[in-house]
Amino acid sequence: MIITVTLNPVLDKTARVDALRVNALNRLSGVTLDAGGKGVNVSAMIRSLGGESIAVGFLGGGTGEELRALIAKKGIKSDFVRIAAVTRTNLKVVTDNGALTEFNEPGPEIRDGEWRELEQKISGYGVKGNTVVLAGSLPPGLGKDTYKKLSVTLRRAGAAVFLDADGEALKQALQSAPDGIPGYIKPNRHELLQYFGITDDKGAYPETKLVELCRTLIGRGIKLVALSMGEAGAIFVTGEGAWRSPALPVQPRSTVGAGDSMTGALVYGFEQGLPEERCFALAMAASAGACTTEGTNPPSRALVDALLSQTRIEKIA
Ligand SMILES: Nc1ncnc2c1ncn2[C@@H]1O[C@H](COP(=O)(O)OP(=O)(O)OP(=O)(O)O)[C@@H](O)[C@H]1O
Ligand SMILES: [Mg+2]
Repeated sequence: MIITVTLNPVLDKTARVDALRVNALNRLSGVTLDAGGKGVNVSAMIRSLGGESIAVGFLGGGTGEELRALIAKKGIKSDFVRIAAVTRTNLKVVTDNGALTEFNEPGPEIRDGEWRELEQKISGYGVKGNTVVLAGSLPPGLGKDTYKKLSVTLRRAGAAVFLDADGEALKQALQSAPDGIPGYIKPNRHELLQYFGITDDKGAYPETKLVELCRTLIGRGIKLVALSMGEAGAIFVTGEGAWRSPALPVQPRSTVGAGDSMTGALVYGFEQGLPEERCFALAMAASAGACTTEGTNPPSRALVDALLSQTRIEKIA
């Protein structure tokens, strides 16, 4: 079973206005609501490929209920902990000239008791055969060691852990002992370099060096580093070797969430028992497909299948 954890989910509200005016009334039109948050995006990708997952996390207030309903409408099962505070809403305003202005909330404060309830729920999913995806930012009230604590509990109980986090939360999770470290991570290029304290040099850092950095992480107990590099494609490094895959030529509409689609496809592929290289190909096709859809919407299975035939996975080490 696949479980996705979204600790700071969001109700995404998108609206249109002819032009944005400061110090004046802006009348919005065409308001749409969508379920957001990285774990939720991963669940949506898995669903689109024909798989199943359970979305877990915190929900509160009316926006929380709206979010729960939107997730159910996508055909995704959920098992959220209800909190006293209200789930955040992020507002995206699109003007007639196509410009996007975003207003993002930090998210509700999580109380100790609420965290303990969720921790217990997630621990309950920590059994052999389950894969738990931990993805996205942490809400106020939770420490930077949150993903580390969950990873250690889940790994020691025999579950697989896939982490997509950055900054301090990633750093701490990677400091776990080998039997508690997440097995799978999907940093993008910036996140990997930042982890190693290397200033991002706008693409100049060579591929061989990137592979070396990924290998350092493999040496610490990680099974797979899926390094995504936007339109430069991706590198996949395991204990057995390293593979490169160029990005597929698509007309991007929105690349936001492409990484989440990559994670979803990888987890789905592993769950199906597909060979490693097949999982990498699926990840490339799904993430490229995700770029062609509006917002964070996942691509259809038909589009992923069409893109799969164009995917190239080259062994480089
Ligand atoms: N312009 C593009 N054309 C084709 N494929 C792309 C493009 N941008 C991204 N992709 C695909 O999506 C994958 C993930 O993209 P990226 O590295 O931008 O992830 P990310 O930064 O984690 O994104 P997010 O966190 O918003 O989901 C890339 O490895 C690539 O396969
Ligand atoms: Mg990402």
